[in-house]
Amino acid sequence: MAQYGKILVLNGPNLNMLGTREPEIYGKQTLADIEANCRKTAENLGFDLDFRQSNSEGELVGWIQQSTEAAAIIINPAAYTHTSVAIRDALALCVSPVIELHISNIFRREPFRHESMISGVATGLVCGFGPNGYMLAIHAARDLLENG
Ligand code: DQA
Repeated sequence: MAQYGKILVLNGPNLNMLGTREPEIYGKQTLADIEANCRKTAENLGFDLDFRQSNSEGELVGWIQQSTEAAAIIINPAAYTHTSVAIRDALALCVSPVIELHISNIFRREPFRHESMISGVATGLVCGFGPNGYMLAIHAARDLLENG
């Protein structure tokens, strides 16, 4: 097992379409590209990576409930960011650090994206750095575990 154990990276709806989905907003990398980069970064920093995507709110809630052994959770809840009390309530039960992540800067976009159900239960937020934000979030998780 890796030094810090497992880092869980969860991705919400439509993120399986990255690469072709609004590339001017989300970039040209596919979710598989991002996963491969996350795997390299996670392994270099002492994590095993568990990287998942679902279009279903219930499936995401189930994965969060089952994540008790994860050292940290990074979640891009995608559109559920703005609507999901269920995902917020599931994350509120997590004892490990939770990092909310957005590829785009949601605060520069439409007003309905300025509200996050998730930020109030997250340890921190990475937002607006493009697909590289996933790597920043993994570094942030390692720093939280190392230095508190
Ligand atoms: C997103 C921002 C959300 O507003 C949007 O619904 C997404 C992706 C992002 O990564 O920038 O699907 O979470």
